Amino acid sequence: MNYTDTFTIYTRWFNSYINHFLETHPDLYENIELKADHSRKVHDEIIGIAKNLKLNEEGTFLAETIGLFHDIGRFKQYVKYKTFSDSKSQNHAELGVEVLKENNLLKNLAEEQKEIIYKSILNHNRAEIEPDINPKVIFFSKLIRDADKLDIWRLITEYYLIKEEKENKTIELELPDTDEITDEVYHAIMNRKVILKESMKTLNDFKLLQIAWLFDLNFEYSVQRLYEKKYLEKILKTLPQNNKVNQVKTLVDSYFKESSIKNQLLIIDTL
Ligand SMILES: [Fe+2]
Repeated sequence: MNYTDTFTIYTRWFNSYINHFLETHPDLYENIELKADHSRKVHDEIIGIAKNLKLNEEGTFLAETIGLFHDIGRFKQYVKYKTFSDSKSQNHAELGVEVLKENNLLKNLAEEQKEIIYKSILNHNRAEIEPDINPKVIFFSKLIRDADKLDIWRLITEYYLIKEEKENKTIELELPDTDEITDEVYHAIMNRKVILKESMKTLNDFKLLQIAWLFDLNFEYSVQRLYEKKYLEKILKTLPQNNKVNQVKTLVDSYFKESSIKNQLLIIDTL
């Protein structure tokens, strides 16, 4: 079977898997649909990056599969625990790999392909990618981490626009929406460091964590796409307008500037 046919089977399986959850848990429709839509859109984002990097047919297939299935553990997690917070429930990436294995979904793939898919899924929500002797594992983990971030930025910026009318505490990981910004979180972002989930105490901290993902992007294409979509500007607008937030704005602006200069130099270099 070729890659296109195999991926068509995966898409059909994914759709029927989601339908099963929607039918058995109609009361949880909204958040099941939210994660299904996110999975499909991460698949679209990862194709964008794959095209930009001119991946071959196998590489594109692996990227698409990881994109579509990276959050397949979310559905079991949500119906069982009614939360998307891993610390309050279970690691959804590990749960996802279990789901794929239980359903024997990747049975036709080579061992190395399965390993790349499973390990990339496990790496997608870690604070950092786990070292691996296979460079392909690292590469595909980088791809999914960028694609996932790009679509979460889309999802949350759309959500913040309608939050007043339609609050969804699950998206906010049930964090309190107060004016506070935790010092540890603020210092991490100002030092261009990725913020650890454990240090978040408020919704503002979560917003800063998502802004700091900027420093964890792996491909110039992703930085460019983030810049064009203005996601960070949109998140910044929802934060209290104080000195700390202004400092973060300045930092984000200068990071984008540096990155576009780097990019231009890269282009000049390759001319
Ligand atoms: Fe995830």
